[in-house]
Amino acid sequence: MSKTFKVAVVGATGAVGEVMLSILAERNFPVGELVALASERSAGGKVKFGHRDVVVQDLATFDPTGVDIALFSAGGSTSKEYAPKFAAAGAVVIDNSSAFRYDADVPLVVSEVNPDQVKNRPRGIIANPNCSTMQMLVALGPLHRKAKIERINVATYQSVSGAGRSGLEELGRQTAGILNFQQADPQRFQVQIAFNLIPHIDDFLDNGYTKEEMKLVWETRKILGDDSIQVNPTAVRVPVFYGHSEAVNIETRDKLTVAEARKLLENAPGVEVVDEHKAGGYPTPVTHASGRDAVYVGRIREDFSHPRGLNLWVVSDNIRKGAALNAVQIAELVAAEG
Ligand code: A2P
Repeated sequence: MSKTFKVAVVGATGAVGEVMLSILAERNFPVGELVALASERSAGGKVKFGHRDVVVQDLATFDPTGVDIALFSAGGSTSKEYAPKFAAAGAVVIDNSSAFRYDADVPLVVSEVNPDQVKNRPRGIIANPNCSTMQMLVALGPLHRKAKIERINVATYQSVSGAGRSGLEELGRQTAGILNFQQADPQRFQVQIAFNLIPHIDDFLDNGYTKEEMKLVWETRKILGDDSIQVNPTAVRVPVFYGHSEAVNIETRDKLTVAEARKLLENAPGVEVVDEHKAGGYPTPVTHASGRDAVYVGRIREDFSHPRGLNLWVVSDNIRKGAALNAVQIAELVAAEG
């Protein structure tokens, strides 16, 4: 009989955890036993794993002994407290929070870009990158390998699902309320998100950037293994339910033509090019990305203000490739180690 794994999903009731469960089932991950964990609030409730209902257990009282692989998506503080306990009990932890991403002894892995790093995990923890960095690097990885990217200018358009279930609920509630002439009441987001844009995701740092923006800088350098890459980010929350979009401008050391870039992207794993100069000939969160696995790239064009500049429009489902799918792909790499 082929090997199976005892898999724990921590945060199983959340927006990402729910999709981790469905992707594990869809991709026939060799699950011997599935454990769904969340807070005490959800313990005793049920979540779907394929056609089965699985009873949710309380993370705080769960004994991790015997867990082979644990997928964590329950926020940074939960990961900080519990991931080391699971790793000490022998599990390989794949953590979707930012708790360990910048630790030198924790690999940060995009499965199409630096899969070999999965093996370098002295603490038994592998970090899943931030959703915006993830989709950007699935597209930029092959361009960097060919022409060496020296600088990235990126503006993100990030959907509310990146803020979890409460983000989805807030956009739905505010939209319905405003259409009924009620005042929006911001709770999850800093100001009204319905029919609005918010250039503020995660905390402000001393340098005037937000932490979400700096994740694009720190994580790009770590994943591409190149601290010389300059990244200039602006991260914006937009009233879209699922799917992040990014206007990306790169400056490369070697000239890349549009035709060369398109060819590299067409052959890149995990990428789909949608780039026709007509109505709808470009990816959008609703028409292409939502509920799908690929990173969609369109609007590929030369930056006519720079001799070695290129512009791209990159769209992907932030909950799937940006979080749950990549975590499961990392688990597949771990499982393949035998
Ligand atoms: P719960 O549903 O019991 O609160 P989202 O990102 O969609 O908000 O989901 C967050 C996930 O993390 C949920 O599954 C949530 O469980 C879980 N979670 C949050 N805090 C804790 C905690 N202290 N212990 C265990 N799970 C937690």
